Amino acid sequence: MHTIVVTTALLPAAFTDSLKQLGEVRLAHDYQGELWTGATIALTTVMDAMQADQIGALPDSVKLIANIGVGTDNIDLDAAKARGIQVSNTPVVTEDTADLAMALLLDTCRRLSAGERYLRAGQWLQAQGKLGSRVHGKKLGIVGFGDIGQALARRAAGFNIQIVYWGPRRKPEAEQALGASYCETLEELMASVDIVSLNCPLTADTHHLIDAAMLAKLQPHAVLINTGRGPLIDETALIAALQAGQLAAAGLDVFEHEPTVPEALIAMDNVVLTPHIGSATAECRGDMVRRAAANMAAFVQGGELLDRVV
Ligand code: DGY
Repeated sequence: MHTIVVTTALLPAAFTDSLKQLGEVRLAHDYQGELWTGATIALTTVMDAMQADQIGALPDSVKLIANIGVGTDNIDLDAAKARGIQVSNTPVVTEDTADLAMALLLDTCRRLSAGERYLRAGQWLQAQGKLGSRVHGKKLGIVGFGDIGQALARRAAGFNIQIVYWGPRRKPEAEQALGASYCETLEELMASVDIVSLNCPLTADTHHLIDAAMLAKLQPHAVLINTGRGPLIDETALIAALQAGQLAAAGLDVFEHEPTVPEALIAMDNVVLTPHIGSATAECRGDMVRRAAANMAAFVQGGELLDRVV
């Protein structure tokens, strides 16, 4: 089989050059046209939509979508399955994303970014007048206790933070290992914690998991951290809740309509905003492209994918 990898993502040349050992590599601007003729693998990142329309437009020769990213919400998995296309991901972002979640938690609670903004603007005294909230000894609610949620719990334990979690399944072993307690309902978690961190995947079930009703459960001093996916939160409801003082602050690495960030959030002094950088370390990005390459190599050799999603 002559392998043709087509990507719409702007990837480092060193990586795309290394893929030439698998076959031909083409950079396309969209999901149809001549560049796709004979393509066998579509190489995507989490910023490249592979929804039903795009999958429908792929030639029959495409048999693998290799996603660079652990989340596959950019891909319509049912549409891929229906066309007999396998999907792989790169579940190698756990520790880096947990680092970022912890950093965002500390920044938001202790007002690091805000303090730096004031300092740079020559407003030392104004910055000192605005107090953050203590981190140690607080209660953190982790929504989604998978690899990243558990990696965050390990970090938080070092700050003497009490951990509770909620997810579709109770995880007794992880609970015991990490000293975490299970909340029977998300409502209970929201109402009882000082800090909430979202660490679950985006699926049809988790879309707008945090809506106006859920936000209304938070205590006014609560802080919300999201390093999962933007659409886990109803962003309009979050803005209204922040404006109404239903929560104290938010730290957001992901947004509902990336790369658009609502002006209302940008204007808020109690909100920390970062541009989806959970995996953005040189080491992690290196691990991710190597893992995507390993999945593609397994596919080309006719073997089992390392990380088969569909
Ligand atoms: C992932 O791997 O899904 C990350 O969000 C990409 O940065």
